[in-house]
This record gives sequence, C-alpha cells and structure tokens, in this order.
Amino acid sequence: MDSSNKMQAAVLIKYNQVEWKTVPVPEIRSDQVLVRVGYAGICGSDQHIFSGDFHPRTRVPFIPGHEFAGTVAGVGERVKHFEVGDRVCIDPIIPCGQCAACELEHYPACTSLKLLGVDMDGGFGQFVAADEHMVYKLDDRISERDASLIEVYSIGFHACNRAGLKADDTVAIWGGGRIGHSIAQAARTRTANKIFIIDILEKRLEIARQYYHNVITINPDTQDPVKIIQEHTHNRGVDVAFEAVGHAHETRFAPHPVRACVQSIHGAGTVCVLGLADDPAPIVMKELIWREAKIVASRVSHGEFSEAITHLGKGDLVPDALVTTVMPASDAQKAFNMLQENPDDYLKIVLDLNS
Ligand SMILES: NC(=O)c1ccc[n+]([C@@H]2O[C@H](COP(=O)([O-])OP(=O)(O)OC[C@H]3O[C@@H](n4cnc5c(N)ncnc54)[C@H](O)[C@@H]3O)[C@@H](O)[C@H]2O)c1
Ligand SMILES: [Zn+2]
Ligand SMILES: [Zn+2]
Repeated sequence: MDSSNKMQAAVLIKYNQVEWKTVPVPEIRSDQVLVRVGYAGICGSDQHIFSGDFHPRTRVPFIPGHEFAGTVAGVGERVKHFEVGDRVCIDPIIPCGQCAACELEHYPACTSLKLLGVDMDGGFGQFVAADEHMVYKLDDRISERDASLIEVYSIGFHACNRAGLKADDTVAIWGGGRIGHSIAQAARTRTANKIFIIDILEKRLEIARQYYHNVITINPDTQDPVKIIQEHTHNRGVDVAFEAVGHAHETRFAPHPVRACVQSIHGAGTVCVLGLADDPAPIVMKELIWREAKIVASRVSHGEFSEAITHLGKGDLVPDALVTTVMPASDAQKAFNMLQENPDDYLKIVLDLNS
C-alpha cells in the first residue's frame, strides 16, 4: 500500500481480459481486517468468472480470488483477535443468515450463499477487506504459498466429515482433479487403509502414485474400476466413495461416476457427491436400496478451516501434489490462458502477489 492508498491487482476488466493495474486499497469497516495477500490460488470457478459464465452474478471490472492467505495490514477499532503482522487466511463463505438452512446453522446450504472473491472483490489484489469472523490465524510452520490451499483443503475435510469417514475406512475417489486430490489428502489424515483414485488422465493418477501411500489408481478407459475395487477389498467394496468429477467423460469400462460410486461401496456404505454437473446422474435405485446405502452431498466447507490449518501445520498434507505452478500475479492473464488452453496440464496455479 503506498501513501496514496493504492495497490496493484489482477483486475478482470472485461470477460477474458485481466489487467495488472493500480486500484484503490479497499476500506475496512470497524469489524474488519485488512489483509495483505501473499498468494492466491486459481479455482475452476475463477475460470468461469474469467470467461463470463457467472454473469450476471459477477460483473466487470472485478477482482476475483477466493483462495488466498497473507498478513494482517490493518484492523478496525472493534476487531478483537488480530493485530498487524498476524499471518492469516480467509474463509470466503458469506451465508445470508436468513434462509431456512441458515436458521439451522447449516451454512453451506444457504440459498443465497455469497463468496468473497466471487460476489465481491477478492484475493487477486494486494489487499482485501474481510470480516473478523472470516479470518483464521495460521500455524507458523505453514508457508505463505501453502496457506493459499487451505480453502481447497477445507472442501476435502468437509467432504470427509459429511461422509462420516472413519479410521481404517477404505475409500474410492472418482476424479483426480483438484477436489479429488484434496479429498484424498484429507482422507489420508484419518485412514491408513486403501484409497482408490479413478481418473481418465494418466498424469493425475501419476501424481497420486508419486505422493500418496497405499493408493491404487485406476483409469476407467483401460480397466474396470468396480471390478478392481472388489478384487482389492475381498469382494466387499469400499466404505466410502466420493464423486469429484462433475461433467463426466464417457469411459470404456465404467458407468457414470455416481452410479459407479454406488456400485463400489459395500452394503450400508456411503456415497458423497461433490461434482457440479448440469446433467442428471443416472442411478439404478435397486443398486442403492439393496445396499441400504447413504448418498450425501457436500458443498464448500463448514468450519473445516481449523482442521485444514492443523493438519497442514503438522505436515500431514502434501501441498506439492496440488500445486503445479506458481506465477507472479501480474501474469494472471497468462495463467488463465494456460488453464483455458491446456486444462489437463494443471492442478493448482497459484498467483504470487508479492512479486
Ligand atoms: N461441492 C463442492 O464444494 C465443490 C467445490 C469445488 C468444486 N466442485 C466441483 O467438483 C468437480 C471437480 O472439481 P475440480 O476442480 O477437481 O475439477 P477438475 O477438472 O480438476 O477434476 C475433475 C476430474 O475428473 C476427471 N474425469 C472426467 N470424467 C471422468 C470419469 N468418467 N471418471 C473418472 N474421472 C473423470 C477429469 O479427468 C478430471 O481430472 C467440479 O464439478 C467442480 O465444479 C465442487
Ligand atoms: Zn474455489
Ligand atoms: Zn442463508
């Protein structure tokens, strides 16, 4: 922040065009914290914002970024728990507080859920204003870069909580993308038992084999995942199957991922779905009912920031598996182009706001 209260930010000036430019530093209210952003991750929804898919929910000019962390640069007079210099990350979720789900304190299901960085300017600028209750202190052992992954990890931990994942459970994860890897790493903090990761992209399976212990990777274009899962679980099936695909490609050996999840679990097992596809997912109800299985949905997170911070601090997570590339935030346009042109080549691109 210079003396004229200006900062640099990657501003989406029109759809598909980001410019690194000088803009005013946001003003904070008395209950808000001003955060100097260190690193910010690019999420799939940022790509939708970039290309205009979220219009009119998002408008231009706009500063995206809901996965970020940094250092406290200022506090409002009513802020109690933070001071300048604290290392922090931000839970971007802003529930309405009024709908039926909010009355039940079930905030991920809020019908008008807003996100800092989607519905208001976010972390692709050097400074962000955030309400004190959205701010979490970091463990000293967490690097600035890795702190930008806490939001993604909170989604993985929330999914494990929604699925009721227990110690020693076996797990199958459909989709080895950013969310699939986040779930795999969160699951690994609870169970040392087998984890199956199913994806059609060999390089994503390769990352899993390289970084995770006791993982079995399956490409449904070359192998039948349900058969392999049965073989490795003494014809029992897994305790929990997660669907983290969304728009599913057809594969040679597996049905739609949600149906395959149902076929992979044992009787009384759990399927947890996260993928945000527009198409209906075909489920054969008999397959579900015979198992008297549970299907639960998982959306964003609900306080799992603390869990993610604790495990990241203890070294239980593998951030290097998630981060493909770090780039200066001034190159944000280039980063979005890279993701648009070769989406399969990247898990996370993280923007460095310091350079
Ligand atoms: N519920 C939530 O809280 C939440 C949060 C973030 C993202 N999402 C959604 O989760 C989904 C995954 O997000 P992501 O960022 O990991 O996306 P991603 O594109 O990085 O990962 C999806 C993966 O699925 C694989 N895939 C495609 N078809 C397949 C098939 N038939 N079988 C197995 N794998 C297949 C792709 O190769 C890819 O690796 C998206 O729909 C996204 O919108 C949900
Ligand atoms: Zn996101
Ligand atoms: Zn609400």
